[in-house]
Amino acid sequence: MTNIAKGLEGVLFTESKLTFINGAEGVLTHLGIPIQEWAENSTFEELSLALLNGQLPTAAQLATFDADLKANRAIPDALAQVITHMPRGVHPMQALRTAVSYLGLLDPQSEDTGAEARRAISVRMIAQFSTIIAAISRAQEGKEIVAPRMDLTHAGNFLYMLTGKEPTAEQTRLFDMALVLHVDHGMNASTFTAIATSSTLSDMYSCMTSAIGALKGPLHGGANEAVMDMLDEVGTPDKAEAYINAKLDAKTKIMGVGHRVYKYFDPRSRVLRDYAEVVANKEGKSTYYQILETIEKVVVERIGSKGIYPNVDFYSGTVYSDLGIRKEFFTPIFALARISGWCASVIEYTGDNRLLRPDAVYTGVTDAHYVQLQDRQ
Ligand code: ACO
Repeated sequence: MTNIAKGLEGVLFTESKLTFINGAEGVLTHLGIPIQEWAENSTFEELSLALLNGQLPTAAQLATFDADLKANRAIPDALAQVITHMPRGVHPMQALRTAVSYLGLLDPQSEDTGAEARRAISVRMIAQFSTIIAAISRAQEGKEIVAPRMDLTHAGNFLYMLTGKEPTAEQTRLFDMALVLHVDHGMNASTFTAIATSSTLSDMYSCMTSAIGALKGPLHGGANEAVMDMLDEVGTPDKAEAYINAKLDAKTKIMGVGHRVYKYFDPRSRVLRDYAEVVANKEGKSTYYQILETIEKVVVERIGSKGIYPNVDFYSGTVYSDLGIRKEFFTPIFALARISGWCASVIEYTGDNRLLRPDAVYTGVTDAHYVQLQDRQ
């Protein structure tokens, strides 16, 4: 009997030096360094460069990378026009997918799949995703697109382009930390999709467009938005316990909990929960936080034994919501961070490329013959 690895669970298809996960113990490291240390000490720019280079950068390397990102923040006018004319009401992930694909049309280097080109395009895309996502938000609100500022960090500049207002140092730091937590996560569905596309020696824009499509689904990046929908549906903290019990009784999946790899607390959700707790202690518990606390308690009590615990999406939405970001933009913000992980993984994989081509066990009929159309029932 042939074993089928449904969902490719446990299938090892490549080697990687970027990210290590121990799902049973809730451990996540990048380049061997625990995610908690990255979140506490580092920045989006530094972790992105570290993954692209496969090592912690020197101060000089980081300064050059930072300058490169800043120099590439602006998006072509033609793309800004396309974004402005996109239909209102489309999901921002649809808009992002289209915008990134269009950006590829405008990049004369886009068809170059050599290692140097892949890296140069990665730097541009890491810089420009931020501008594109902010522009999509502004256009959907019928507001002027805000040009990037060169004196702000990647996180600070994004918040500035989104709102038109310079964020506080605290908001910038918080958003930067959230980006750091989302930069990479091993062979998740979107990274795998990016790699699968790259394995055909397709171009970086095609890889990233495919990855955006994979991230969009509610079982992956779309879960953070679904968590907020759930919190809005619950309404008030006193209704949370009955709501979740009813969902679990009906065997409905709860968004923001469970993970293919983690069978214990996702360490990223702990960092975000710690932050939420600090805010709660300072400013009092928000309604969202109180609902999440109850949901976490019930889930862990009832299905923790199945390895179901909160994942990164459980608390991330409340952090973004504290920053005044609309829930439709939670998944694009995930992409804004994950672009670095996608690019680094594609660069690593294509450095020793092999076409990805798995197989399926054929279970259809084997002895059929063609029947003419007029003879079919
Ligand atoms: N709520 C309730 N029960 C769950 C959940 C959940 N979210 N997730 C899994 N279970 C249950 C399953 O019903 C199953 O129960 P059973 O053994 O009695 O049949 C058991 O736990 C094992 O679940 P699987 O479906 O085999 O786990 P899988 O690894 O396929 O699922 C997944 C992982 C898809 C993430 C799932 O947990 C889920 O749908 N979660 C909600 C969506 C979500 O939050 N996604 C974000 C993931 S993190 C990220 O992408 C950033």
